[in-house]
Amino acid sequence: MSTTPEAPMLSPIGRSTPRVDGPLKVSGVAQYTSDFHFSGQLYAVPVEATIANGRVVKLDTTAAERMPGVRAIFNRENIGKIFRSVQEPEFGGICEERRPPFEDDVVRYYGQYIALAVAETFETAKAAADAVRVTYEVDKPNVETKLEADDDSEVILTTFGEQHRLQSQRGDADAAFASAPVKIDQTYVTPAETHNPIELHATTAIWDDLRLTLYDSSQGVVNFRTILAQMFGLPKENVRVITKFVGSGFGGKLFPWTHCALAAAAARQLGKPVKLVLSRKMMFQTVGHRPRTQQRVRLGATPDGKLVSLQHDYVYHRSILDAHHEDCGETTPFQYSVPNLRVTFGRAKRNVGAAADMRGPGAVPGLYATESAMNELADELKIDPVRLRVINEPKIDEGLGLPFSSRHLLECFELGAEKFGWSKRVSEVGSMKRDGLILGWGMAGCSWLAARFAAEAIVQLRDDGTAGVACATQDIGTGTYTILAQLASEKTGVPLDKVEVALGDTSLPEGPLSGGSFVTGSVVPAVFEAADNAIASLLTVATTTPESPFEKRKPDDLKFEGGRVFVKDDGPAGGVPFADLLRRANLRLVTGSGKSESTFGNPEPKFSTHSFGCHFVEVTWQSEIAQLRISRVVTVIDAGRILNPLAGRNQIEGAIVMGIGMALFEHTSYDAQNGAPINSNLADYVVVVNADVPPIDVHFLDFPDREINELGARGIGEIGLAGIAAAITAAVHHATGVRVRELPVKIEDLLA
Ligand code: MOS
Repeated sequence: MSTTPEAPMLSPIGRSTPRVDGPLKVSGVAQYTSDFHFSGQLYAVPVEATIANGRVVKLDTTAAERMPGVRAIFNRENIGKIFRSVQEPEFGGICEERRPPFEDDVVRYYGQYIALAVAETFETAKAAADAVRVTYEVDKPNVETKLEADDDSEVILTTFGEQHRLQSQRGDADAAFASAPVKIDQTYVTPAETHNPIELHATTAIWDDLRLTLYDSSQGVVNFRTILAQMFGLPKENVRVITKFVGSGFGGKLFPWTHCALAAAAARQLGKPVKLVLSRKMMFQTVGHRPRTQQRVRLGATPDGKLVSLQHDYVYHRSILDAHHEDCGETTPFQYSVPNLRVTFGRAKRNVGAAADMRGPGAVPGLYATESAMNELADELKIDPVRLRVINEPKIDEGLGLPFSSRHLLECFELGAEKFGWSKRVSEVGSMKRDGLILGWGMAGCSWLAARFAAEAIVQLRDDGTAGVACATQDIGTGTYTILAQLASEKTGVPLDKVEVALGDTSLPEGPLSGGSFVTGSVVPAVFEAADNAIASLLTVATTTPESPFEKRKPDDLKFEGGRVFVKDDGPAGGVPFADLLRRANLRLVTGSGKSESTFGNPEPKFSTHSFGCHFVEVTWQSEIAQLRISRVVTVIDAGRILNPLAGRNQIEGAIVMGIGMALFEHTSYDAQNGAPINSNLADYVVVVNADVPPIDVHFLDFPDREINELGARGIGEIGLAGIAAAITAAVHHATGVRVRELPVKIEDLLA
């Protein structure tokens, strides 16, 4: 049986492709972690410390234990053994809060879990958790917002390995600054911000003898398995982690948190599946936040705008025990050409939960500071801010002394300025008006690291004409299901709706963390190699199956294209669909596997590999009623080849929405009395809503970067958030004359 040849399929690469998982999501079929239910399942609710510094002296669980339906109140005495986890090579075994839950009686931050109620219903578990009486020894918490670097050693072991506090240095930054004719010396502050994905963190743990299965809202099932296997003293093979759909993560779900181990420990003790879903309040306490930063930036320049010195000294807050590194200086050494530079960092311990990666960690607060300083320098010099950046465009990465794999920042500026109409800008503050409103125009550049994590994948060709692609990575709402389908479709010629994508399960080939905007770039080589190997296997089948039309041929004589096998010399006209060949051979499928090597943290890179971009922002300002609105944003991104412009644009738009929040709304406030994050709900922690979002005009340059993979695709999840806050504060200054150097911009700041 042979199917009718169809018109050759257009390549799915580079085509705007709606999410292949979209119908499952909008119809409610997609199962998020807390949607899974198991027979005999129990519910766990943690007891949160109501102090931020001190010790638990007594836990009175009597009333809670007596409640009907309560199965257990766990604490340090009865939770059972939970081991400490440790980092493994190749960026494995990472978590931001290393201390196992209940390890000691010390409370180091507000909301730390000190007990766990487990009951037959969620409501009972919540009532039981509330009924636990706790006696504390209370010390005053330190949640001081002014940051001074602690007395740390020069080399610090952080969550992500060793970091030198003198992060980058060249020339003599002090001397060059001292003698510079024009100077900027300012300090920029970004507050703690808390990830608020709409899907709450959730874990359900199920034990089957010595095997542990965890359903978790995770951005990295493979790393998650490593950590949980260590914490329960199990071989990795005995642990399976499943994450089918994630209601977004923003970095907060990259690594396991303490509630995950609590769910697993409780399930072990009770011999039943245990589900633990955090409350929105807990989301502010125990699952990470972007740490507060305080960054001094000093720029020295010649009167015609050439940078002669750049110093970036930053401090961030951290929790008492943890060592998350907020790398605000990541982009500083290479963004501009400057002969004299120094970047240093320090840390300040506070009684707060562990800080964590949040969308564009490091670079996002870092570029807010450095790009703001560049804008201030431009104003000081009376040079257009775009022009200042053009003057200081580097030829190579001067920090590493390496060429860029691909850098088209100047083209970004050119296109952005044109689309925005930047040439009409009048620099004088408050001078531009429209419809009775004052206009403010601002801009900033941005960049974000591009690299690959290691990835493995399999591709299958099946006897019903469908294809399969599988990789233990995750789709956190960004479009990974769709990208994997596009890649497999490209190579196999199987249309997108006939490609089955499997991800989010450690039983699949090991895949990358959904982090660093690295997934797309990482999986391309693995999926392509897997497809090539599946095709090679198919060609062997074609030449070895009795009565196959290609029986007398060698695999080398054949070609696979558009889902059909044909003799190279005869051309595609006489091709046979692969499904026919499989059926003739009585094979359900052929499989190929492939692997991408990691380039992340490569000690000897040949290129400096980054994405670049810029934002142009317009605000309107109505001084009579102190009303500030963002009225338009133009963003241009150079992220290599864009595999799916629709999903790509959606990523950048989402990042800009988040950037408006960063600039104008988001901040987590800690109560000086008890150390609690006091705005721990979505009413008081203000995030952007539709009415805050103006038209966003996103453009991609589409220069392939072949250093990353053969398609030249870098990544686009995070770069859109980098730089946008600096563009907004520049626009605010242009409209109002007020320089806001501590985010978010508040109405009070503008009531000068
Ligand atoms: Mo991103 S902060 O690496 O999820």
